[in-house]
Amino acid sequence: MKKKIMVTGVAGLIGSHLVEKLLKLNHEVYGFDVVDINFNRNLENIKNHENFIYFKGDVRSSEDLNLFFQSDASVLYHLASVVGVNKYMEDPLSLIDIGISGTRNLINMCNKHNVRMLFTSTSEVYGKNSNIPWLENGDRVLGPTNIDRWSYSTSKALCEHMLFGMHHKNNWPMSIVRFFNVYGPRQNPIYVVSKSIHRVLNGISPELYDGGNQTRCFTYIDDVIDGLILAATLESAVGNVINLGNTIENTVREVVNTILKASNSNLKITHIKTKERYGNVYEDIPRRVPSIDKAFSLLGWKPATSMEEGVKKTIDWAKKNDWYLDLNK
Ligand SMILES: NC(=O)c1ccc[n+]([C@@H]2O[C@H](COP(=O)([O-])OP(=O)(O)OC[C@H]3O[C@@H](n4cnc5c(N)ncnc54)[C@H](O)[C@@H]3O)[C@@H](O)[C@H]2O)c1
Repeated sequence: MKKKIMVTGVAGLIGSHLVEKLLKLNHEVYGFDVVDINFNRNLENIKNHENFIYFKGDVRSSEDLNLFFQSDASVLYHLASVVGVNKYMEDPLSLIDIGISGTRNLINMCNKHNVRMLFTSTSEVYGKNSNIPWLENGDRVLGPTNIDRWSYSTSKALCEHMLFGMHHKNNWPMSIVRFFNVYGPRQNPIYVVSKSIHRVLNGISPELYDGGNQTRCFTYIDDVIDGLILAATLESAVGNVINLGNTIENTVREVVNTILKASNSNLKITHIKTKERYGNVYEDIPRRVPSIDKAFSLLGWKPATSMEEGVKKTIDWAKKNDWYLDLNK
């Protein structure tokens, strides 16, 4: 059945793939983002689609949100956020402000009109909890406040508190997902997979931080989109926070080596010491692994794409898209 659906952060990696899928399912999508749609390649395939309506605005502005908000929509996917360790080191105030004021504005609007919200949170919420794998009710173990990295985790956790608080108070329908290292075509080349692919295909040596023994569970975009839609629509997800991530743990070194191999590249890895590049305000997380039992029991979801397959698909896509390889040049 055709539904009216709202998506903030629609021009980003996850938002743009989500909207493509929702349009394929024949829904009417209202998208919101700060970017100018005429200069954004992520929405190129769908910007003229008859069921896609785009609003340019800032989630911190109630005025902008009033123009966008559809009180008869079935759900709002709230994805807009500042993402990426470098970005929140560059602009720490915006990271917190966009997270907290933007989410509070949207919670108020959704709650007022009883519109369901799907909030996109992060595995960063668990911090450096060494009790692996991370269950949704696991502890948050964070470092000190002079380490910039923890501001993203803290701001997302505060948003989760706002959502849970309003859900408990008013029985307002909401669900939260926590993503684990999502990657795929179109991702801004500033994260480990996208940046390494971008560098290698441009003939530049990929970088490894502090030896690359940190582990991550890399989750391919198509798997994420399936889980996201289930979490935003199934009744079983209401009032829940759910991990969406791959369970196979890879070191960052393994991923970079997979990228080199899949690109038939013999470039050598450049080793970076983060203390030298970022000083003492940087802290890394040694292991990051989700439990996805809850995703499976509530949504019937588990990821289907291996890291090797996902990396190959992303490389194949990047090779066909010169504009992407030219980014940041
Ligand atoms: N990609 C991941 O691995 C990952 C992991 C954990 C959580 N998440 C969360 O998933 C969501 C989507 O992530 P993504 O990877 O697509 O990131 P992205 O950076 O590609 O997309 C975020 C989008 O939000 C928009 N945005 C930023 N500030 C805004 C503002 N003030 N008003 C309106 N729009 C604004 C940006 O322009 C961008 O298009 C985010 O909330 C992020 O925190 C992503």
